[in-house]
Amino acid sequence: MSLVAECDGEVVGHVAASPVSLSDGTPEWYGLGPVSVLPAWQGRGISSALVQACLARLRERSARGCVLVGEPGYYQRFGFRSLSGLILPDVPPKYVMALCWTDERPQARVGFHSAFAATS
Ligand SMILES: CC(C)(COP(=O)(O)OP(=O)(O)OC[C@H]1O[C@@H](n2cnc3c(N)ncnc32)[C@H](O)[C@@H]1OP(=O)(O)O)[C@@H](O)C(=O)NCCC(=O)NCCS
Repeated sequence: MSLVAECDGEVVGHVAASPVSLSDGTPEWYGLGPVSVLPAWQGRGISSALVQACLARLRERSARGCVLVGEPGYYQRFGFRSLSGLILPDVPPKYVMALCWTDERPQARVGFHSAFAATS
């Protein structure tokens, strides 16, 4: 899923979400990111609106949870928390943040889409 913020026909912000695989077999989890806003448009709540809209759409699709790699100080405002059971190789645990919409707490390695590993 890709959502954009537009102003006068110009795209000024973007957020993406894509399915992730969890090694314990838990289905219906998604990865949020990247999120970006043009520098001239930052600090006006655009990324917050994009992230909220993206999370709302994931919930409409019966998503069970959402994971991301990001700055805790920024993503905590949306309810994301470090979840000790979720592991992304080579990523410090405090940057692996998740939002659970069920009582499940997966114990799993997270696999993002292979596009995230592209090098060129
Ligand atoms: C991070 C980013 C998406 C924020 O976009 P934005 O539209 O300016 O965000 P908002 O206006 O909705 O929210 C701004 C708030 O986020 C905070 N914030 C922004 N970047 C932050 C960071 N790296 N760490 C902690 N807080 C951050 C601001 O201090 C501000 O807080 P406030 O609401 O308490 O004043 C934007 O700065 C950006 O595109 N950065 C470059 C790409 C990037 O780092 N993306 C995130 C990782 S994929």
